[in-house]
This record gives sequence, C-alpha cells and structure tokens, in this order.
Amino acid sequence: METTRLAHFELPPQWSTMRKTEKIERELGKKFIHMEKGDYISPEFKPPEEAIEAVRDSVKSGKVRYSPGPGIPELREALAVEMSSRGRDTKAEEIIVTPGAKFAIAASFLLFLDAGDEVIMPDPGYPPDEFWARYQKAVIKYLRFEDPRRVDVEHMDRLITPKTKLVVFNTPQRPNGQLIENTAEIAEVLLRHPHVTIVSDEIFARVVFEPFKHQSLSYYTELRDRTVVIDTFSKGFVMTGFRIGWVTAPEHIAKNYDILVQNSCTNVSTIIQKAALAALTAPESYSKELIRTLQRKRDIAWNILSASKSLRTENAQGAFYLLPKLPHGLDDEKIVDLLLDHGVAVVPGSAFGAGGAGHIRLTFSLEDEALAEGVQRLVDVIDGRQ
Ligand SMILES: Cc1ncc(COP(=O)(O)O)c(C=O)c1O
Repeated sequence: METTRLAHFELPPQWSTMRKTEKIERELGKKFIHMEKGDYISPEFKPPEEAIEAVRDSVKSGKVRYSPGPGIPELREALAVEMSSRGRDTKAEEIIVTPGAKFAIAASFLLFLDAGDEVIMPDPGYPPDEFWARYQKAVIKYLRFEDPRRVDVEHMDRLITPKTKLVVFNTPQRPNGQLIENTAEIAEVLLRHPHVTIVSDEIFARVVFEPFKHQSLSYYTELRDRTVVIDTFSKGFVMTGFRIGWVTAPEHIAKNYDILVQNSCTNVSTIIQKAALAALTAPESYSKELIRTLQRKRDIAWNILSASKSLRTENAQGAFYLLPKLPHGLDDEKIVDLLLDHGVAVVPGSAFGAGGAGHIRLTFSLEDEALAEGVQRLVDVIDGRQ
C-alpha cells in the first residue's frame, strides 16, 4: 500500500520525558532533577566570551543583511583550518555552514536518498536520521555492534547491496558516549563498496575525554571523497541556542548542500556566523576548561552509578551522556515513569532504537550537587526494586 510521506509523523520519542516533565511542572508545580535534555544544563557552562562580544559587535556595526549562502568566507576558512587540524586536509570550498547539525542531517537525507534506496544507520542512534529516511521512503537497515565501541563489520558488509546509498555513523556516539574504535576495519569494508556515501555525524568531536582520541572515516584519504562530516557549534562551544553547524564534504557534494541551504534558509544569520568564528578562534583554554568540567561531572555520576548493585554502566569516552543498563527484565519506559514519580527525569533507551531498550540515558551536564542527588536517587530507586 502506498503511504504518504507524513504517515510516520509523530513527536520525537527521545523528547517524551521532556514533554512530560514540562507538563507536570506547569500544571502541578512539581520540580524535577533534569537529566533528560541533550543540552548543557548548569549555568556554569557558557559560550566563549568572544562569541558574545562578536554578536554585540556585528549587531552594532550593522552586519544584519543577507550573506553568502554557504557561509561567510572567513568562517569557511577557519573551519577548513579546524578540519585540517583534526586530520582531514580541507579547503574552504568544502565547508558549508548550516543552521545546526540537525539541518545538515535533514539535508543529507534529502540530497542522497530516493524512495526505495537503502540506508544503513546505527541502532541505538539519533532518531532524526530515521525520521528523514522514512520521509524519503528509503529502506532502513541497522548497524549491529560487537560491543558499544566496535561496529560488527562483517554484518555491515552483508547489509550493503547495490541499492545502498548511505551509511550513517555517529562518533562520539549518542546515546552512550562511546567512540567508534574500529574505524580502520570499517574503512576496509567501505573501500570495497565505492557506490556508498558515508555520513559521519561528529557533533561531539571536540568533547572527548583523555586518553581517548576522536577518529573519523574522513581521515582515510581513500574515503574522503565520499564522506560527509556533520558538526556543530552546539556541543563544542555551548552554543546550542545559536543554531549553527557545518558540513565538510568534497566540493562536488558540498555544492549540493550549498544549493539546498540557499533554497531553504538562504544563509545562517550573519550575526551568528560572526559569533561562531569568534568561538573557533577563542583561546584554547576555553575548550580545556569545558572538557575538564565535563569530565569531573562524568566521574561524579559514574562513581555513584558504578556503586549500584543492579546497574551496569560503561564510563563515557566523550559527549555528556551515560547509558546505564537496567537489570534484566526491567522495562525502560516503566522505569522512566517510576523515576519521574521520584522527581528524576531521564530518557528510556528504547527512544533511540530497539538497541537502546533495557537502558536509560542521562545527561551529566548539571550542577554537581543536583547531579549527585539525581543519580543517587535513581540508583536507590532501581536497586530498591531488586
Ligand atoms: C547525534 C546528534 N546529531 C545532531 C544533533 C543536533 O545538533 P545541532 O544542535 O547542531 O542541531 C544532536 C543534538 O543533540 C545529536 O545528538
């Protein structure tokens, strides 16, 4: 039966807890410890001061007109330097500035997929990937993992057919904060399938904890010309509300993102692009402090979780999430509702795909005290059920 593009339209499941807490807080005045949001929660996290100054300056100096669709040249240059320093030799023409990484995800699915095309994506993964694949009436296949850090490459190889258009990765991964470690094995398989384009969502590339190192398939020169990297200022610079990200792709692919941006939003606000440029060129101490603070919070949460007698938690290598595994037989959605009764808000792992079922995801970017209190309460509730 022919379905419409809107047949699957529903509010994203990963924000269901947020919608519930918002309603309860508004109607009943009850307060929660919020660990369900994919954002910086504690006010101690701020964008670089230079970015705020740049917003003031560009408004004052009247830089409030349209600007070039793919991004202002100085920002594209600076992003090319950023990507080159990570390991992908990049020219400014290969950078397209987008209104956030999420727009870049939508653009990727719109640009590469037609009805009936096949796309491979991680499970658990980022729900908007699946949303846009369905919108395009593509056939979705899920990547399997040998463990949270290793893609099962033999399985991936078997999933690829002549109809496979895209393989999507995200690393550091959400919802679990683990890096994909076996990039060399993945690259080896993908080299044998030259018709496949790779979309690598690397929005936490700058949020990786020592001693781990961010790895990208785009660093493999043989894959570079068919790999699109998606990144954002949201996570590396605490600029979630600024709505600015970028795509790095070979010129022949970048040109299509450029056309899509120009025909949809024209250009990302010039004011915001100036702020992004200032953030990127802010002193290195900014990023070091951000990582140090996040690492401290990660360890506060992980130390409490690892003392639990029933939860199993891998410590995060990057990002600001932990994904504790519930004891066998507990339903993640029911546990999330139970935790809400105890004033703690987290997300059921199943909201990120079947592979997330039996887990709960929490964000650790809260004030230290609230974080410790929230995680301890969570452990007490779940251990108390055993
Ligand atoms: C994997 C992933 N990709 C993209 C995004 C969206 O980022 P942005 O704020 O730049 O739209 C998020 C947001 O949390 C994410 O987790």
